[in-house]
Amino acid sequence: MENITVHASRGLRGTIDIPGDKSISHRSVMFGSIAEGRTVITNFLESEDCISTADCFREMGVKITRIGEKVEIKGAGLHGLKAPSRILDAGNSGTTLRLMMGILAGQPFTSRITGDASLQRRPMLRVVAPLREMGVMVEGKENGNFCPLAITGGKLKPLDFVSNVASAQAKSCILLAGLYADGVTSVKEPAKSRDHTERMLAEFGVKLREVKGKISIRGGQALKGCAITVPGDISSAAFFLIAGALVPNSEITVKNVGINPTRTGVLEVLKQMGAKLVIKKRKGRGEPSADITVRSSKLKGVTVKGSIIPRLIDEIPILAVAAAMAKGKMVFKNIGELRVKESDRIKTVCSELSKFGVKTKEMKDSMIIYGNSKPKGALTLSHGDHRVAMLAAVLGLVAEGETRVYDTACIKTSFPEFENLLGKLQVRHAGNY
Ligand code: S3P
Repeated sequence: MENITVHASRGLRGTIDIPGDKSISHRSVMFGSIAEGRTVITNFLESEDCISTADCFREMGVKITRIGEKVEIKGAGLHGLKAPSRILDAGNSGTTLRLMMGILAGQPFTSRITGDASLQRRPMLRVVAPLREMGVMVEGKENGNFCPLAITGGKLKPLDFVSNVASAQAKSCILLAGLYADGVTSVKEPAKSRDHTERMLAEFGVKLREVKGKISIRGGQALKGCAITVPGDISSAAFFLIAGALVPNSEITVKNVGINPTRTGVLEVLKQMGAKLVIKKRKGRGEPSADITVRSSKLKGVTVKGSIIPRLIDEIPILAVAAAMAKGKMVFKNIGELRVKESDRIKTVCSELSKFGVKTKEMKDSMIIYGNSKPKGALTLSHGDHRVAMLAAVLGLVAEGETRVYDTACIKTSFPEFENLLGKLQVRHAGNY
């Protein structure tokens, strides 16, 4: 079993490039695969989750190759995918499974898809129910709520979908299925989730309309292969931005971080908490990005709730570490969605923080992290969840003594370079910078 050992840090200093955004990398492969012509992706995230997506499309006959620093895809077009000869494997990735369901729904063949033990526990009815309304046949455990799933699609009926969760995966699934429907499909969600699908479909030449938060797409529109540049992943950067704020004697610059406004909730909350952040926007095409510098900071706890939650949903585990070291208590409300991530993150975040001596309170859809902690090095467990593994490693940097994080192979699903980058930033001797 892989593990990581961390000691109290003397400081984190330097400049790092953060690997490509996971959400955007997934979409670039999916849309490139169903586009006509060639798509070239720069800064694709070569992590296990994104490789699962590429392998699923390879299984359906799409040619995806790495050429130097870039990934090239020869698109099959909307109707050119081949029936897979074996069960498609989404691994640990909810994005792979839920978005692919939208594409598989439009294919005139039956496909089967599954994932690892964690993915097999995550709810799929949020996409299966609307897909069924569009005319797709889906079979699976507990009425199709859990994978393995079998999908038989074809020509779909358009749908006016009102989602009861703010989920970019559910929204994207239905918009993608909408490409195969006869007419206009629309999606409305309770709060705006990340909009990478809408932005990238537009790059591929698809017309979408957004009126008062309702997004509509007309079926039958062809995607045209294009060049996609993936910015760095803000969800990965957040581990270093918070580590830099917490560890004394630190100054880190994280280059080329994606700052799509539907993802920047973490920066807003860190600023409210008093983090010393300098955000320098970069120029260029595609999704917006910035170089972000953080310095050691004194933080205070704040309350995080409501419509900002979908804009920082993946950063709540590492924000809980910031909260533990802040003055006062930090309250996270309306975070019930965390219970159905790679692990039940309300439970796993509270359990791992408490191993360091941090006081936490877990409620149905909220949690409180009590600050002013004096964490003690601990033996902690990832629970198979990459973000839980990384949060424990970051807390270990400010804990007294040694911390060991067990079962850290899961970090490769999103951020294979995490441990190397952390090592690169460590100040080895007092005054060594
Ligand atoms: C993602 C959407 C979010 C997020 C996940 C990636 C995406 O999930 O937590 O890590 O790429 O669309 P939900 O759609 O379940 O909120």
